[in-house]
Amino acid sequence: MPTQDQTENQFALTAVVTGGAAPRGIGQATAHRYAQEGWAVAILDLDEAAAKERAAEISAETGAPAIGLQCNVTDPASVTGAAEAVKNSDLPPVGALAAIAGVASPVDFLDLTLDEFNRVIAVNLTGTFLTCQAFLPQMIENGYGRIVTTSSVTAQHGGGVFSKTSYAAAKAGILGLTRGVAREFAHYGITANSIAPGVVDTDIRVGSTPDREEQLSASVPLGRQASPDEVAALYVWLSSKDAGYITGTTQSINGGSYVS
Ligand SMILES: NC(=O)c1ccc[n+]([C@@H]2O[C@H](COP(=O)([O-])OP(=O)(O)OC[C@H]3O[C@@H](n4cnc5c(N)ncnc54)[C@H](O)[C@@H]3O)[C@@H](O)[C@H]2O)c1
Repeated sequence: MPTQDQTENQFALTAVVTGGAAPRGIGQATAHRYAQEGWAVAILDLDEAAAKERAAEISAETGAPAIGLQCNVTDPASVTGAAEAVKNSDLPPVGALAAIAGVASPVDFLDLTLDEFNRVIAVNLTGTFLTCQAFLPQMIENGYGRIVTTSSVTAQHGGGVFSKTSYAAAKAGILGLTRGVAREFAHYGITANSIAPGVVDTDIRVGSTPDREEQLSASVPLGRQASPDEVAALYVWLSSKDAGYITGTTQSINGGSYVS
């Protein structure tokens, strides 16, 4: 059975990272971190050019095999096409999926249109469902599997950060989905966990202002936003062999914004 041991099995397995193209995002930081810790990397993102650019940077910096592919996580054909493309590529077998693609939504509840609600559910929740379903068979076949999904502190306290109810609902749905996957695939030795970040210093909060960003930082007990790299480290550790007995959990990384 293959294992992901960074020192002995350099680049023996591939980590698939959705939403890894944004230059300041959590996904790109996670893709870099996987490569630094011995994984080959496949970046799947709506933005094909940026996904390829990130992959080239990663290969140049770390020597890891890396590819970037266009993929819309809301579209079943696009997701299964990307899964096939990864399988048929020169990369080693898939051992981990970091489902990170997501969109924010600060719309107040009474102004929330069905289109906006559906958009937020589609990218965050349906996208996580489709990517898990597309890559799990490869993990079963390859004998090693780590799924790490992306929730938010917003799911835990119903908003109060930037995004509101549609996002809270989508990110809470991801917790249930992840627990279901954890239970259903445990007998293969595959784990599934969710990361619930608080405020992270990225460009996801479209329309935010410097004042709003300062307020957000001040609202965190640790007094600052997380760096994407701090969050990235958690995806990679949850994908390691050492984390093999951790499944069905929600890992909070929020600077104390929500303490339970
Ligand atoms: N930044 C935060 O404060 C924060 C907090 C909690 C949770 N999160 C979650 O972390 C994840 C990453 O957030 P980020 O801040 O890095 O965001 P970001 O906006 O910087 O990056 C998101 C990436 O997802 C991609 N994407 C969007 N829609 C897609 C689709 N349909 N198919 C494929 N790719 C798509 C974008 O192209 C982009 O590369 C998201 O799921 C987000 O909800 C972020």
